[in-house]
Amino acid sequence: MEKRAEILSGKVFAKAIKEEVAEDVKKLKEEHGINPCLVVVRVGEDTASEVYVNSKVKTAEELGIISEHKHLSEETSQEDLLAVVEELNKRDDVDGILVQLPLPKQINEKVILEKINPEKDVDGFHPVNVGRLSQGQEALTPCTPAGVIDMLKRANIEISGKNAVVVGRSNIVGKPMAMLLLHENATVTICHSRTKDLAGVCSNADILVAAVGVTGIITDNHIKEGAIVVDVGMNRLTDIEEAKGFFGEDKLAKRLKTIEKRGSTLVGDVNQKAAMEKGSYFTPVPGGVGLLTVAMLMKNTIKAARMRRLK
Ligand code: GUN
Repeated sequence: MEKRAEILSGKVFAKAIKEEVAEDVKKLKEEHGINPCLVVVRVGEDTASEVYVNSKVKTAEELGIISEHKHLSEETSQEDLLAVVEELNKRDDVDGILVQLPLPKQINEKVILEKINPEKDVDGFHPVNVGRLSQGQEALTPCTPAGVIDMLKRANIEISGKNAVVVGRSNIVGKPMAMLLLHENATVTICHSRTKDLAGVCSNADILVAAVGVTGIITDNHIKEGAIVVDVGMNRLTDIEEAKGFFGEDKLAKRLKTIEKRGSTLVGDVNQKAAMEKGSYFTPVPGGVGLLTVAMLMKNTIKAARMRRLK
């Protein structure tokens, strides 16, 4: 079967969002004397977190948002981290607070996230923001699912009335993704590890969002002809034989080289070959949704600044 799906490029959409945010930052400064500020807190030495946090801080700076990176040691106690959050809650110059996850095992994630002032919760993880989102009230919403909706709208993809299936029920992506799709009037189904007939449910989806972190769990059998396939997974594929069934001919040689050179290649939850052959639109990994998350964080920081300072 020939290649068919149109690629939804995270790079293109993220660039558009960032340009709008930069304009907004300028306006906030010129019209209201507000200098928006984002503080990112990282605890310990998780390599992936370091990459994500550096990218968040760098992007903020590029857009004229003041940014601080607080890096605390792996041994930081829950009490000490709570004190850091408390101090940031009190600082009037701070608009957004983000505590990068995962946290070291001595710290209870839930306790920390609940301590963040909901007005500064640019991740949208605080129960107040989760509750507001579920009731359809104005809220700070989690960046990755908000980015997916933003991208679908920019691509003029109709959501209303569509069957949307979300695979994964995490607080960071799956649950808020389902809620946002519902608010756009999709008919939403959430699948998870206990779902009995995953392929059967998914193959009914006009919009299929995969966010479970299992390499290639979504295959040919899961994708309806013409579906919009959004891949939020971030996994490492190491097996050459598996890779051969994963990519189309145009991408395979490059990916095999990457595996040979680095031992693995970055992939999502969706078999790319299947999505390209059966889908109408596809967000690849890398180059898809991942790039939107940081852009949406910047958008949330500006939203938080406006809501708190111009109310
Ligand atoms: N770790 C992985 N994704 C995220 C995210 O969106 N926010 C935070 N705070 N930590 C993460």
